[in-house]
Amino acid sequence: MAKPASNFSRRMNDLGNWIDQRLPVSAFWKATMTGYYAPKNFNFWYYLGSLALLVLVMQILTGIFLTMHYKPSAAEAFASVEYIMRDVEWGWLIRYMHSTGASFFFIVVYLHMFRSLLYGSHRAPRELLWVFGMLIYLCLMAEAFFGYVLPWGQMSYWGAQVIINLFGAIPVIGEPLTEWIRGDYFISDATLNRFFALHVIALPLLLLGLVLLHLVALRENGSNNPDGIEIKKNKGEDGNPVDGIPFHPYYTVKDIFGVAMFLLIFAFVIFFWPEAGGLFLEHDNFVPADPLVTPEHIKPVWYFTPYYAILKAVPDKLMGVILMGLAVVILFFLPWLDRSPVKSIRYKGIGYKLLLAMFAIAFVRLGMLGMAEGTPAQTIEMRVWTFVYFGFFVLLFFLSPKMKTKPVPERLTH
Ligand code: HEM
Repeated sequence: MAKPASNFSRRMNDLGNWIDQRLPVSAFWKATMTGYYAPKNFNFWYYLGSLALLVLVMQILTGIFLTMHYKPSAAEAFASVEYIMRDVEWGWLIRYMHSTGASFFFIVVYLHMFRSLLYGSHRAPRELLWVFGMLIYLCLMAEAFFGYVLPWGQMSYWGAQVIINLFGAIPVIGEPLTEWIRGDYFISDATLNRFFALHVIALPLLLLGLVLLHLVALRENGSNNPDGIEIKKNKGEDGNPVDGIPFHPYYTVKDIFGVAMFLLIFAFVIFFWPEAGGLFLEHDNFVPADPLVTPEHIKPVWYFTPYYAILKAVPDKLMGVILMGLAVVILFFLPWLDRSPVKSIRYKGIGYKLLLAMFAIAFVRLGMLGMAEGTPAQTIEMRVWTFVYFGFFVLLFFLSPKMKTKPVPERLTH
C-alpha cells in the first residue's frame, strides 16, 4: 500500500529538483521564509502589512472582473455599473467587494502607518521603507480618486470637478493644466476614458512595483518590533538573531489567523452594510452624473476628508491647496523629524504619548469636519485642528531629543 505513495513523493521530489536546477524556488523560499528570522514579539499591529497585501490582491482580482462588464464611456458608464449590480451573476458581490474593499484598504493602511508612529518603525535604518510606503500611499490616493469617478454618478462628476479645479489655483499654468488633465474644457467622456486607463493599468502597475520595493527594503534590515530593538545586533552561535523566529511556519500561521478574522469582518460589512450609510458609497453617487445640477453638498470619500478639511480651513484657495499638499508631504519627513534617542513608545515618556494622541485626534476630527457642511463654527474648529496637526510635527522636531525616555532593554520583552 505504501509503494504508490513513496513513488509519488519520489516523483514530486524529482520534479522539485528539476525546477530548482532551472529556477531557484527553494533558495528563494529559504531566504524569504524559513531562513528569514523575524522578531518573536510581533503583536496585533503586525497583521496589517499582510492584510494590506491581501486587500491589494483582492482589489486587483475584483477589478479584473468588473472591467469585463464595465463600459468606460460617459453615455454608458452609470448604466453598466447598474447592470453589474442587477444582472451580472454575482456582480453585486464583486462590485461591493471592490468598493467596500477600497475603504478597507485605507483603514488597513492608516492603521499600518500608525503602527510606525507607535514603534518608531520609520526611524533609521528603515527610512527608505517608510518613503516607499508614503509613495504607495500617494499612489493609492490617486487610484481611489480615479476609481471613484468611474461609476459616473453625481459625486463622481462633481468630486472630480472640485479636485481638478484645485490645480487651477496654481499661478500661470493652472488653467492650461486643468485642461490638460481633463482632456477637454469640462469633465467629459475624454476625462472618463483617461481616468479608466490610469485606474485599471497605469497606477496598479506602479503600485505593484512600489510594494515590491517596499518589501525588498523591509527584508534588507528586517522588521522592527514593539520594543524598537534591533534583533540583528544579538546573534546566536548559528548566526541567527537569538530573539528571532523563522517567518515560516510561525508568522505564516499567525498571518493566516489574521486573514481569517479580517475576512469575517469584511464579509459581515459587505453582506449587511456595504455602503456604510453613505460613508463608503455616497448617496449622491446613485444618481447619474448631471453637469447641469450641482449636488447640495460636495465632499470626497472619508479617507480624503482630513485633507479636505485642511483645504477648507484656509480662506485663500491657493494657500489652502499648498497647506493641504504640505499635510501629506510632511509625512515623508517623519523619520527625520522624530529625533528621540529611543524608537518605541514603550520607552518614550508621557510627552510623546500626549503628542501622538493629539495628532491622532486631530486627524480623526479633521476627517469628521471634512464631511460636515462647513458652518462658521465648524470652520473655526477646522482651523484649530489644522494647527494641532502641523503642531505635532514642529513639536516633535524640537522636543523629541529632550523628552524623557526609559532605559531600553538589551533583549526583547514579551
Ligand atoms: C499597498 C500597501 C502596503 C502594503 C501591501 C504593505 C506591506 C507591508 C508588509 C507585508 C510589511 C511587513 C509586515 C508588517 O510589518 O506589518 C510592511 C511593513 C512596513 N510598512 Fe508597509 N505596506 C503598505 C503600505 C505602507 C504605507 C502606506 C506605509 C507608510 C507610509 C508603510 C510603512 C511600513 C513600515 C514602516 C513597515 C515596517 C514596520 C515594522 O517593521 O515595524 N507601508 N508593509
